[in-house]
Amino acid sequence: MAVQSVALIPGDGIGPEVLREGRKVMDAVAEVTGVTWQWKEYPFGAEHWLKHRKGLPTLMSEEEMAQLATHDAIYFGAVGDPRVPEQVEQAGALLWMRFYFDQYINLRPAKLLRGVVSPLAGKKPHDINFYVVRENSEDFYIGLGGRFAGRRNRDLLELRRALYKAKFQVDIDIDPEDQIAYQIGAITGRGAERVIRYGFELAKRKHLTRVTVVHKANVLTKIYGLWMETAERVAKEYPSIEFDTAIVDAVTMWFVRRPEWFQVVVAPNMFGDIISDLAAATVGGMGFAPGGNINPDRKAGVSMFEPIHGSAPKHGGFNRANPIATILAGKLMLEHLGEERAAELVEHACEDILEAGKVRTYDMGGNSTCSDMGDAISERILQLKP
Ligand code: IPM
Ligand code: MN
Repeated sequence: MAVQSVALIPGDGIGPEVLREGRKVMDAVAEVTGVTWQWKEYPFGAEHWLKHRKGLPTLMSEEEMAQLATHDAIYFGAVGDPRVPEQVEQAGALLWMRFYFDQYINLRPAKLLRGVVSPLAGKKPHDINFYVVRENSEDFYIGLGGRFAGRRNRDLLELRRALYKAKFQVDIDIDPEDQIAYQIGAITGRGAERVIRYGFELAKRKHLTRVTVVHKANVLTKIYGLWMETAERVAKEYPSIEFDTAIVDAVTMWFVRRPEWFQVVVAPNMFGDIISDLAAATVGGMGFAPGGNINPDRKAGVSMFEPIHGSAPKHGGFNRANPIATILAGKLMLEHLGEERAAELVEHACEDILEAGKVRTYDMGGNSTCSDMGDAISERILQLKP
């Protein structure tokens, strides 16, 4: 059996406690399956930055990124601390990894587990069960934009003129009233194709029959025009899978009104960001929402698995956060590493514990601790075996 070498990044706030429980559950998995872990913990987070990188724009240096690249996967808690600029912890850690390792898939399953109550009335377990496949490398996340001086009442003219001259970046120390700001989203045909294809391949692998491609091509005709033309072309290669399209505003309505419809939902980066939080809410909240930042070609880039939630600094250190999102991120990591049966075991154990209902964290209206939850799920795994 291959040894899986995994980088652990606990991070800040509740990150360390939820990741500790994630690792505990993964260690239980190792006891009853052929999976063998080799963990290596990295200190990236607020303390590390304040001590070693203060003033620098990223949490990790290039050398540290190169070190992360040597692992089979990265298992990530959360980062975010009031003492560190938000930009550094978000763009300088999450986006830095996504771009650096070309993790162009952001896989965010939304599944209503046994034992969890959805805020949508009348939904039974697995009534909500779909994958959001979020494009993770392009769109409005490319950071292209600027702020410059405008002139009152002539702003639009100025904007056009400035764009025309491609003379964007001006340091802003003038009144915001007299500024123009813009930010551009851009996609590439290849970038769209690889994520849409992943969506169809995922459907095939999971024996699903419908792929919904999200867009706003009715208004943002250029960027999502290319996106949809690409989708139509890729969809033709999968005649046995229904090709469904939906405009993003309507998707938010249908996620609430008829979530059963959705199986695989492929979305551009920013729409995917927004709708995946909504999807998480329908299956019990951020405590149940894992994400995989994936480069499907394991040789081309290491993938990173995390709960979608942030570091929630005000809850950090109390051992009360719900670790299930992190544990389910571990499930995604197992799948990525080719350990399908071990992955199933993790979800099964989570559902058994949730359904039994004895262990419930505060977000579920209980007062069990984060470690109570991790212990219970680990013990269940040892009982179940694969
Ligand atoms: C997410 C987060 C990130 C995003 C932020 C923190 C950069 O909201 O992972 O969904 O916008 O992608
Ligand atoms: Mn988000």
